[in-house]
Amino acid sequence: MVSFYRSPLLLLSGFVFNALVSVVADQDVFILQQPSSAPPPKTLPLRPIEWGQLNFISTTDTHGWLAGHLLQPSYAADWGDYTSFIEHIKETADEKGVDVIVVDDGDQHDGNGLSDATFPNGEISQKILMMAPIDLMSIGNHELYKCEVTQQTYDMLAPHFDGRYLTSNVEIMLSNGSWVHIGQRSHRFTTKNQGINIMAFGFLFDFKLNCENSRVSDVEDVVQQAWFQSAIREPGIDMFLVFGHYPIRFWPEMWAIHRAIRAVHKSIPIQYFGGHSHVRDFTVLDSRASALQAGRFLETVGWLSIDGIEPGKSEDSPDYGKPLKYSRRYLDFNPYSLSFHANKTLGPDGTFGTKNGRSISKIIDDYRIELNLTYPFGCVPTDYLLEKAMYPGPNSLLSLLEEHVLQNLVGDDETRHGKSRLIFINSGSLRYDMYGGIFTVDSGYIVSPFDNDWLYLPSVPYSIAKEILGKLNALDYIFMELTTPISRTMMVRQQNLGDTFDINVMNSLISSMSGPQDQEDLKTTGYVTIDDYGMDGDDTPHKPYPLYYLPNAVATNDSFPTDGSAPEATDVIFLDFMKPFVLEALAKIDSTTPKDDWKALEYGGKPVKELIKDYVRGWGTECIKDTR
Ligand SMILES: *[C@@H]1O[C@H](CO)[C@@H](O)[C@H](O)[C@H]1NC(C)=O
Ligand SMILES: *[C@@H]1O[C@H](CO)[C@@H](O)[C@H](O)[C@H]1NC(C)=O
Ligand SMILES: *[C@@H]1O[C@H](CO)[C@@H](O)[C@H](O)[C@H]1NC(C)=O
Ligand SMILES: *[C@@H]1O[C@H](CO)[C@@H](O)[C@H](O)[C@H]1NC(C)=O
Ligand SMILES: [Zn+2]
Ligand SMILES: [Zn+2]
Repeated sequence: MVSFYRSPLLLLSGFVFNALVSVVADQDVFILQQPSSAPPPKTLPLRPIEWGQLNFISTTDTHGWLAGHLLQPSYAADWGDYTSFIEHIKETADEKGVDVIVVDDGDQHDGNGLSDATFPNGEISQKILMMAPIDLMSIGNHELYKCEVTQQTYDMLAPHFDGRYLTSNVEIMLSNGSWVHIGQRSHRFTTKNQGINIMAFGFLFDFKLNCENSRVSDVEDVVQQAWFQSAIREPGIDMFLVFGHYPIRFWPEMWAIHRAIRAVHKSIPIQYFGGHSHVRDFTVLDSRASALQAGRFLETVGWLSIDGIEPGKSEDSPDYGKPLKYSRRYLDFNPYSLSFHANKTLGPDGTFGTKNGRSISKIIDDYRIELNLTYPFGCVPTDYLLEKAMYPGPNSLLSLLEEHVLQNLVGDDETRHGKSRLIFINSGSLRYDMYGGIFTVDSGYIVSPFDNDWLYLPSVPYSIAKEILGKLNALDYIFMELTTPISRTMMVRQQNLGDTFDINVMNSLISSMSGPQDQEDLKTTGYVTIDDYGMDGDDTPHKPYPLYYLPNAVATNDSFPTDGSAPEATDVIFLDFMKPFVLEALAKIDSTTPKDDWKALEYGGKPVKELIKDYVRGWGTECIKDTR
């Protein structure tokens, strides 16, 4: 089921269909399920997933994308399709006599209209999320920024999972002042078919910016607490499963847990699942422990299988502890790949969509309409991209804002109108690419979910103001959420090469290393992941996305002298979030003015999200009306 053909509003739209065809022509992306007039779908050379004795399906950082990516065929499955997939895989596991466990590692809010258009955020999307047969779930930092979202998690998710929502280091304060764990600290169970006795924990990284009704204890401390020390010493455990919301490379939390368990069990199997840094990754901790991270935004479903676990065998046996055999795969989240691996057929009469799956897809569509997410502002003529396009350039979203959008900002103080001004935004204020096609209420949440205010410094001498951009871009990176190095290049660096990261080295490495991307008949552009097992983890063989540096910040000058000369002084306007960075830059430029002397005032005006919507309106909705 591909939702872009199901939503009534979009159904009317030949434009969306044409846009997809043009995507196909441009990028050779396949179409999945089509009107009968469309050319047949291109199939991709997928390899069947490798099954083991114990198998995992995992998602993380879904951030409300349960409707899938309506303008990106590679990720156009929805949560109903995912439900069908899980149901088929569980059935196959039973037939094979092996086990499958479905985990999700948290961050379910912020980033998509389905979650963000309600109050509290996630009121509807979390109910839909709970409809999929997920076995184990953990909490992410995006469940903790707002008190009401944390309360919702405690009231709704934790009870639904009935002991399988794990928050080993996160507590909530109840209205009477007592602190309780939001879910459970641990969960012990025996798998259905192989009888593997598993002790599971669900951790969040050492997060500090939570609302005051929650408390996150440092992982390093919790693993020394009595309850954890006694849980890992319980008799009869065959394996540990540690999942949750922490990056599986470079960050210390996972290794703190690993050291604590390995201090007691020299070679018991331990499987980790992580999240938060929004990358596909797989790391090997030792010959009997590995970790998988399944990307972000429902672009990816992680598959992992393990062979060699010996349920019931004593750790003291002389031949205990042989290396385990692993297979990992990152599946693109589209109906073609999900149905291929489920060995089912697509289409209205196909065998892929199960009763539950189809009904969830319908519920998603209905809510998208009820929440007005399908309301169209206009037709975006081409893709405007973040790190996938050269900046400055015709397909750069930052260039679009810098050249056409930011100057439409109108401040509250009329006495400043018409004065020279420089308007700054940081690239982290944009969250996702803007794809060609209909730009809806939903797209607004996706591209720029933040509700920023504007600040300004009046009449800054131009000799100082003109230096600010250079100083901002010389900073290592500007944190978006103060917790994640969301600077695009940092994300890539985390994904790929650690501290030696250099964008040119990476681009040439990708083109020189052997992997499935060598195949001549590559059809799609997408992720090419380098992890501890090499480059064959991406299920769909991809041409790598182009990758470009993005500056931390861009600036637009407006109402400058028409003769091209520089003004004497200019107002300096920036997003409230950028204040500390701008003040730091000013301190470097003008060491004679103390930092506190720069008084940033409220500027007023619409947030970036609304400026984008207004601009898109100018493109018109002809593409929609034309084809009715
Ligand atoms: C607060 O409420 C919870 C749940 O109703 C209860 O278990 C706990 O004992 C209460 N704590 C106090 C201090 O009254
Ligand atoms: C896929 O399903 C068909 C029946 O629908 C079956 O004959 C075939 O063996 C299955 N393939 C695999 C790899 O399980
Ligand atoms: C949907 O959103 C648009 C844009 O914000 C608004 O103009 C319209 O009135 C909304 N429609 C409904 C039914 O809420
Ligand atoms: C203002 O911006 C325009 C467009 O980027 C540029 O051509 C011009 O030189 C700038 N003016 C000054 C005084 O910096
Ligand atoms: Zn996230
Ligand atoms: Zn996170």
